[in-house]
Formats: sequence, C-alpha cells, structure tokens
Amino acid sequence: MSNNKSKDESSRPIGVFDSGIGGLTVVKELSRLLPDEKIIYFGDTARVPYGNKSRETIIHYSLQIAYFLMKKKIKMLVVACNSASSVSLPTLKRHFHIPIIGVIEPGAKAAITKSQNNKIGVIGTLGTVASNSYKKALKKINSKVNVFQQSCSLFVPLAEDGWNDTKIAQEISDEYIKSISGKDIDTLILGCTHYPLLKDVIQKSVGEDVELIDSGRETAKEVKKILEKKDLISKNKLSEKNHSIFYVSDFPHKFTEVSQRFLSKELKHVHKVKL
Ligand code: DGL
Repeated sequence: MSNNKSKDESSRPIGVFDSGIGGLTVVKELSRLLPDEKIIYFGDTARVPYGNKSRETIIHYSLQIAYFLMKKKIKMLVVACNSASSVSLPTLKRHFHIPIIGVIEPGAKAAITKSQNNKIGVIGTLGTVASNSYKKALKKINSKVNVFQQSCSLFVPLAEDGWNDTKIAQEISDEYIKSISGKDIDTLILGCTHYPLLKDVIQKSVGEDVELIDSGRETAKEVKKILEKKDLISKNKLSEKNHSIFYVSDFPHKFTEVSQRFLSKELKHVHKVKL
C-alpha cells in the first residue's frame, strides 16, 4: 500500500517557476542531474521583471503561480527566481505542504563551504540585493562572514538579448564589479537566474582566483537530495508522451526563441495561459 502511494507520488512532476525565461538556467541544471524528472515550468513573461517590483507584488504573483502549479499535482516546488525566492518562501511554505525550495539558501551554503577568507560577494537584481536575503542566509550559517553586495540591473537584458560575450558586457561588468572587487572577496554568488550566462565576463572582472557560485546549480543538487531522502525520485523515463511542459503568461514566441540560449535546446511544449 505505502509502496504504491510512494510510486504514485514519485511519478508526479516538479513545479518550477520564474519571473520569465531566466529560470531555464535552473531547469538546465535540474535536467542534467535528474534527467527522468518531468518538469512543469511557469514563466511569468507578462509581468517580468520581478527584480524591481515590491515585496508585496512579488509575493502576490508567487502565490498565484504556486496555486496554478499545485493544480498540476506537483510533488515539489522550486522557486527558480532569486527575486521571488528572496521574499516569497515563508508565505509559500505556509500555504502549501509539499517540499518547497528557493535558490538563496543552496547558493549561500555553497559559498560558505567554498570561501576560505569569509569574504563573500553577492550580485543580483535590485530587489534581491535590497532584501538582503543572501546576506541573511550567509550570516545565519556563519555570523562572522563579511558580505559585499552589488545589484547589476543591466545583466538581465544583456543575457536575454544575447550580448553575453561582448565588449560592452565586459565594460558593464567591470563597472559593476569595481565596487566589490577591492574588498578581497574569494567567492562571488551569482544571485540571479541570468548571470550564469555572463559568467565568463564576470569571471574576468572579478579575477580568476575568485570562485563563482551558481545558485541554480546548487539548488538542483539540493532538489536531488530532498527527492532522494523522501523517496520521490521518478521511476519512469521521460518520453514523447510524458514530457516536461512550459507555461508562460504572455505570447510564447520570444520565450521559445531565447530558450535556446538558456537551455541549450529547443523547447517544443510552450503554452500561454492566463492565471
Ligand atoms: N529571474 C529574476 C531573478 O533571478 C531576474 C529577472 C527579473 O528581474 O525578473 O532575480
């Protein structure tokens, strides 16, 4: 009886949401680590960006999306968006009783483990930096850690428009990183879904000796651990019939086009929905 129940639960999809396309960097890491997990993704393309919106607005949007995903019978919810993870997790955890994870804690944990000198940089959207979510998560693990933060608003459009490895991207990155690179940091958290696409220019700005932490990658590792612990790893293979599904709140063309860059593969199953 309990075996049947667990098989039934394990075959459910993982829900992932983001303000738009950026969360596909998290999907990429999830698919790499957990290739047989079906993902139901929601990208709020009609209301992106979240990075400059108020806490109340982001919590409201996050709840709406989580209700939508819960109706798809997900077994776990991954908040791929750093701006949403920064403010929405407590509310989401109060409303829904499945495992829910954001990207902040896994990123912070990995940074603390990697840092030798306890000087850690954090870059993210205006909202993520203003919320101090990474700083709080880092200090919770080690109260003595020094945290230096910088918002990098222009990185999101640069990544979406494919300007990742350009001279302009390098100049913008150098300018942003200037404020934290003099602080002797040895670890830098990429605290935004889009920043892994810019990691080469960011690495150049900050110097080769600084370790970059990809919060999305760390989150995928944590998702795997949670599913294993709860015996929720899928026992079915993904197939033509049983594939991941992507929902967006605005027309899907741009999402499909840009997804190639974020996911390194073409997306077939993208649907527009109204929440
Ligand atoms: N997905 C967002 C994040 O990780 C970046 C884009 C936005 O501002 O909505 O913070």
